Amino acid sequence: MKLLVTGGAGFIGSAFIRLLLRSSVKRVINFDKLTYAGNLENLAEVSDDSRYRFVRGDICDSALVIQVLEEERPDAIVHFAAESHVDRSILSPEPVFETNLRGTFSLLEAARMCKVPRFVHVSTDEVYGSIEPPHEADENYPLRPSSPYSASKAGSDLLALSYFTTYKLPVVVTRASNNYGPYQFPEKLIPLMISNALEDKPLPIYGDGMQVRDWLYVDDHCRAILAVLERGALGEVYNIGGNCSLPNREVVRRILQLTGKPESLMTSVTDRPGHDRRYALSSEKLTRATGWTPQVSFEEGLKRTIEWYCTHQDWVQRVKSGEYQNYYARNYDRRDAELPI
Ligand code: NAD
Ligand code: DAU
Repeated sequence: MKLLVTGGAGFIGSAFIRLLLRSSVKRVINFDKLTYAGNLENLAEVSDDSRYRFVRGDICDSALVIQVLEEERPDAIVHFAAESHVDRSILSPEPVFETNLRGTFSLLEAARMCKVPRFVHVSTDEVYGSIEPPHEADENYPLRPSSPYSASKAGSDLLALSYFTTYKLPVVVTRASNNYGPYQFPEKLIPLMISNALEDKPLPIYGDGMQVRDWLYVDDHCRAILAVLERGALGEVYNIGGNCSLPNREVVRRILQLTGKPESLMTSVTDRPGHDRRYALSSEKLTRATGWTPQVSFEEGLKRTIEWYCTHQDWVQRVKSGEYQNYYARNYDRRDAELPI
């Protein structure tokens, strides 16, 4: 297969490209704008592979997308590119709508024009919004997104599905739960807490910390996307859950235990506005269709992740310099006073 991957310099996209290039894939084109979250260091181990090509570009730039599609004629597009952070989407919603909605629209149009044989749209369980216990969302659960980020993802999912219904564009949509693992930008819960713990800094827990997320190791997510790419039915949605629901406090407590740091570093801060209380997914449809199940337990995945951050402090320090400092100050400094709650 020859694949065009958007957002391949980010956390999950780069794990997906590393996975592809360990297989017999024919060619991989990584189309990425290199925003604050895109980092070519994540792909250092594959950059010399003759099957790999990087194109710096914005998915909103239809002329460039069409040019690359015409040059390469890929068998499929796997679309990861997005503004992916909920807190940033609350502080500044505009880039989220530009990339996640307009960007997805321009990519779908280009795919339609160039008759791309398959389009995997990578989405999220956040589109279902907060789910009351004991329910789990299957793929027919209503969409009730809470944040600008999740609303933009819900909108782009529906747009992608409408291209299947209306234009017969061969679209498949995936909705995954919270990923974690190496190379995740330290704005997300797990890498932020690991990195702060290693520096003996306070670990900011939003509200009471009893919000529940379902944790999925990034390589398990990438294997699921590959399974959907190869065996998913067109026009369908597939949930991808980690089978590991935990409250945030418990996740942070385990990080402190594994890093040998005291629980006194946990600090309660003003809650995220519109914070979803609980996500819970059923991935039965995917398992039935492809046989996929998550392979990496949370215990094992968290150990591997902490080990990676401990041994890649140069990467961490580089991504935490510059823009990250401004973001951290905007989101956390005097949180009570600054956020519109
Ligand atoms: P990330 O923020 O780490 O990476 C996003 C990548 O997209 C970056 O390389 C960035 O440069 C690129 N990008 C952003 N805007 C672009 C544009 N306009 N044109 C081209 N490239 C652009 O994100 P991630 O955590 O790897 O998430 C990847 C995808 O998976 C997203 O669509 C996200 O919604 C989805 N997802 C993420 C999670 C999670 O827990 N991280 C869970 C489920 C679904
Ligand atoms: O569920 C899938 C989604 O998971 C993806 O679609 C998103 O791209 C990804 O960012 C993630 O969204 P969350 O908002 O769930 O992830 P985040 O890591 O930002 O937060 C996880 C939980 O931890 C959430 O309840 C908020 C809380 N939190 C987060 C941060 C950064 C804190 O308590 N303190 C923090 O400093």
